[in-house]
Amino acid sequence: MPHPTAAEQFDPHNPRFTADRFTLLAQMRSEAPVTFLPALQVYAVTRWQEVHDVLGDAVTFASSEAFSAGVHLAPEASAIYSLTSPLFAYNLINVDKPLHTRLRDPLMAAFTPKRIQSLAPTVIADVEDLLDAIAASGGETDLLLTLCKPLALRTICRLLGVPLADAEKLSGWSDALVAFQTPGLPIEVQVGAAHGLRALENYIREMVALKAAMPDDGLISALVASRAAALNDLSEDELVADIAIVFFAGHETTINTIANAFHSLLNRREYWEAIASGTVDAENLTDELLRHDTSVMGLYRRTTVDTVIGGVTVPQGATLWVSYAAANRDPGLFDAPETLQCPRGNARQHLTFGYGAHYCVGPLLARLQIREAVTRVAKRFPEMRLVPGAFVPEIPHHGLRAPITLPVLLK
Ligand code: HEM
Repeated sequence: MPHPTAAEQFDPHNPRFTADRFTLLAQMRSEAPVTFLPALQVYAVTRWQEVHDVLGDAVTFASSEAFSAGVHLAPEASAIYSLTSPLFAYNLINVDKPLHTRLRDPLMAAFTPKRIQSLAPTVIADVEDLLDAIAASGGETDLLLTLCKPLALRTICRLLGVPLADAEKLSGWSDALVAFQTPGLPIEVQVGAAHGLRALENYIREMVALKAAMPDDGLISALVASRAAALNDLSEDELVADIAIVFFAGHETTINTIANAFHSLLNRREYWEAIASGTVDAENLTDELLRHDTSVMGLYRRTTVDTVIGGVTVPQGATLWVSYAAANRDPGLFDAPETLQCPRGNARQHLTFGYGAHYCVGPLLARLQIREAVTRVAKRFPEMRLVPGAFVPEIPHHGLRAPITLPVLLK
């Protein structure tokens, strides 16, 4: 019997999927620039040049209705929250021009480098505070739960001006966006996710009203004020959806990328020691970690016409799975791409934050958190190591590389 191809094995329900995913991506990338994946019914784009070209052409490769490709919601879930409800209908990464521009411009105006830079002292204080708690807790910790998650959650709450006490609740609700991107979930899970999205929408609506009455210096207040001053013409639903996507995209991605980064670094003792002794270029290391360890494996696009990608014909109406993570390990661009390497001259050419119209709005904030987390943990705990023999499980999702736990020993 012939061996199954990489495309045939690319199935998140396969128990070995998370352990094998980079091998499968490498095989797909070497075989063809575009590969049809039967399990997902999508065309995967895996080489750097083609990923870059697809992301750069938002007319041929549309985002509208691409986010939830392959998801068929049960009527019980749709009755509570559907793919036409505000958090999807006005979701930046799920729409095209002109709506995309209307939604994105006000966000970009509020997302100033000054606003992000002003968060640096609190990010540093948060890392140190979390490390104090870890140091006091004994010899072993789950770094995902005690550092990566609380750091990213505190940061996104501070950016938006949302009480830190609500962070866990909001995170639980917004996880539903991942559920709505996962084909084949049981009905009760879909219903739970739909309730979560309804609750998230309601919470943000109340927050918008609160900030109108009692403004602060957070991003929600800035958006509310620019709307009141007619500097943008967002409807309330659109404003709520903009805030929701910043909350979701701003923390989920960061938690898991930081966790993946620690996982890689703790397997490379020489780098850990170099960071601890301050002999590493922290900016270059941050980009190399982003290249090697992004949590966003890929997102979707939809072809608006029959087209050719890297010599492969793809019909109109097809769904593409565009893999940033596969592009980041393309040997055509990166030398020894599967290996974390610092310094790496072209590390910054990664496509971790996308490219083109939908380029991430948060790279500055993501870089800040990764750099401060990694350098401060290594300096405080130079002898930290992964718990020997412990397996680091990841959630079985093709679009996300997200560890479930990250157990480490402090010395
Ligand atoms: C390591 C962390 C992060 C990663 C890996 C990441 C990755 C991405 C990627 C790949 C996209 C492009 C989506 C597309 O091509 O359709 C994107 C978009 C986006 N990101 Fe990030 N991101 C990160 C951090 C952040 C942060 C910190 C924020 C906000 C505080 C943020 C907010 C957004 C938003 C709002 C979009 C949608 C942009 C649009 O569609 O116009 N992200 N991100």
